[in-house]
Amino acid sequence: MPTTAIAHPNIALLKYWGKQDGPGNRPATPSLSITLDALTTTTTVEDADADALRLDGRPVRDAKIERTLADWRRDYAIGPLAISSHNNFPTAAGLASSASGFAALATAIDAHCGLGLSDGERSALARRGSGSAARSIHGGFVALAAPDWRGEPVLAPDAWPLAVVVAITASEPKAVSSTEGMDHSKTTSPYFAAWTAAADADFEAMKAAVAHRDFDALAELAEASCLKMHALMLSSRPPLIYWRGATVECLRAVRELRAGGCRAFATVDAGPQVKAVCEPQDAERVEAALKNVPGVVSTLRSGLGGGARVADS
Ligand code: DP6
Repeated sequence: MPTTAIAHPNIALLKYWGKQDGPGNRPATPSLSITLDALTTTTTVEDADADALRLDGRPVRDAKIERTLADWRRDYAIGPLAISSHNNFPTAAGLASSASGFAALATAIDAHCGLGLSDGERSALARRGSGSAARSIHGGFVALAAPDWRGEPVLAPDAWPLAVVVAITASEPKAVSSTEGMDHSKTTSPYFAAWTAAADADFEAMKAAVAHRDFDALAELAEASCLKMHALMLSSRPPLIYWRGATVECLRAVRELRAGGCRAFATVDAGPQVKAVCEPQDAERVEAALKNVPGVVSTLRSGLGGGARVADS
């Protein structure tokens, strides 16, 4: 019998960029994210004679998934599997498909192979595939921090139901993966030490803003974290430039909206898409403004969603 799990991508409001040395794929800095509900990865696993992977219906080889399965098998009894995974959004275009992908895969394998993992253990397993996947195990606002580096729920999705508008400016896969990019920034950016030195204080400030549902403080901290991370990327040698022209125009449009009294802020990951976070009553206005920016190909809207789970059969 196959087992199916679903998981949603998350967007970091406090970014992780850079890894610790050693095994386990542990981030060098804490992070805090929101899990989305409208974007979904659905992954089905089934016993097979040999591992086989299909992504969005096509047979593929994926080195990261193969490496991760080999790593998981060092600790857990996981037999050969046919894995089929489907995203309802563009894969590998800076929309965190690896987060929902590894969260769904860890959840499906845990159930299918009877590993009996706790949420924390499942989060650690997902993290070994992709750091941000540790957070997609949970819904709503989620922290990922020392000492365990397992996703911890901070606030349920309905406790502060923010909306997210994603402006897609390009949909091809990024040229430099997060894993390579982080390593490159860690070894070449002159700002890396300053980034890690400020991370714990930034994390505490953002946790307080979330606990108080303080939108203005969250907006200021999230934009600062995003732009600081892109400063690291830009100051790497050679530089990592994930933005398109439209990315910058979207950032400007969101700042203009905010200056006009609209509660919205923007964040950008290792890709060209802009994610605007706002209060639900402003989502339509934010989406209209972003649609108007030249170079925006499409937009999509989401609320906050739940954690990774096994689908009802
Ligand atoms: C910019 O989790 O994709 O989205 O662990 O190498 O798979 P790997 O990296 P990944 O990196 C996420 C980077 C980010 C910021 C964040 O989500 O915290």
